Amino acid sequence: MQIARFSKIGFIMAATGSAVGLGNIWKFPYQAGKYGGGAFVLVYLITVLVVGFSIMLTEMLIGYLGRSDTFSNFEKLAPRHKAKWRYAGMQAFSSILIMAFYAVVIAWVLNYIVTSFSLLPSSVAQAKSTFSGMLQSGFFVQFFYLTVTFVIVTAVIARGIKGGIEKLNLVLMPLLFLIIGGMFLYATTFSAFSHAVTFMFRPDFTKLTTTAFVTAVGHAFFTLSLGMGAIMTYSASLQKGQSLVKSSLLIIFFDTLVAILAGLMLFTFLYQYGGKPSAGPGLVFISLPVIFYQMGNVGNFLSIIFFIALAFAAITSAVSLVEPTVQYFMDRNGWKRTKASVIIGLFFYIFGIVVIMSQTIHFSSYLTWGGRNLFSWLDYLTAALLLPLGGLVMSIFVGFIMPKSQVEKVLRPELGFLFNAWYFNIRYIAPILLMVVIVSLLSAQ
Ligand code: PHE
Repeated sequence: MQIARFSKIGFIMAATGSAVGLGNIWKFPYQAGKYGGGAFVLVYLITVLVVGFSIMLTEMLIGYLGRSDTFSNFEKLAPRHKAKWRYAGMQAFSSILIMAFYAVVIAWVLNYIVTSFSLLPSSVAQAKSTFSGMLQSGFFVQFFYLTVTFVIVTAVIARGIKGGIEKLNLVLMPLLFLIIGGMFLYATTFSAFSHAVTFMFRPDFTKLTTTAFVTAVGHAFFTLSLGMGAIMTYSASLQKGQSLVKSSLLIIFFDTLVAILAGLMLFTFLYQYGGKPSAGPGLVFISLPVIFYQMGNVGNFLSIIFFIALAFAAITSAVSLVEPTVQYFMDRNGWKRTKASVIIGLFFYIFGIVVIMSQTIHFSSYLTWGGRNLFSWLDYLTAALLLPLGGLVMSIFVGFIMPKSQVEKVLRPELGFLFNAWYFNIRYIAPILLMVVIVSLLSAQ
């Protein structure tokens, strides 16, 4: 049972902190670049608005009414078959799969903050070899920063909802907005800005393959932290009377804003300095540092604050990835918060070490299947399959299993005449869309 409650602003910041993460600043730009820009961005935006909003409200409602860990929430709210429905709470465990690669990327980011102080690569070739050198033979550097990540995340979570999570977000989120906002404004002064706008907003549907489509929908879930209990677990600590609709809209607004601003900024810099948007996951770790080098002293400064912002964004999300499982062991097994934080922390830490190994020259052949290594499988499958699946389960649960009167009591006063549209959406439109995504993912393999 949750005893500590977020303050109103604390909840908004914490949930926004969860949503705004590597997904917005690292993943979104490289995926948009890889899948051709506009059409990908359009599918992502439509999914965020049509499905994302409805599912976020659904997930918040379950947390708000359940007031507990994910398993107990489903159990409490299912009028019949409680024992069966509690397994819907298993979605919280997707977080460990995400965290295993997420923490590794945080380790890269921390490493890049430190190197930004001194050496930036002077050419793409050099940047590439630095980055792939880190992946293939820089096991210990990654291991070191993974350890730092483990310590930070565990320490925050061990301090609890108010003293740890809320405090962290109240400090880091405003700083993050300041940095990204400032860098975006700087980017608008470049002539390549309009090129970046065209790239992001002019859809070319010939580029929209099944993989691009599935990735865009999966990304909408990933970026909003939906389908794995993060928003649900935070919502269990919502204050009575805080508006679920307004909170969802604000979180989605901030999340989309950061993705768009970060994307426009990155593509402006890329076009201005002759980089290519389609560099893949190395985009911010390869192309960007070279551009910062070309900018001279300003570049060094920009590089430092950019990677700091990325670290802030990522750590606030990482905390929300681990909290649901911690909550689970506290509620269901009676563990103390500190014990739960350390044990779950160790779990993702060890898993993270295996993920690091999956990209090293020595071990990659053992940890690669079907052309994807462990890192890339975890990234792809969690976003494209597990999160939409979590969303599907929640929409069916709230749409068909929970008594309508219980749902209506909370949301009708907030949504007014839109209640029926939302209810129809989560009963029919969202589940069908999500099933299409899941089926096309499975058949594309
Ligand atoms: N939303 C986070 C991001 O965009 C990632 C995340 C996914 C966090 C799922 C929590 C739950 O980086």
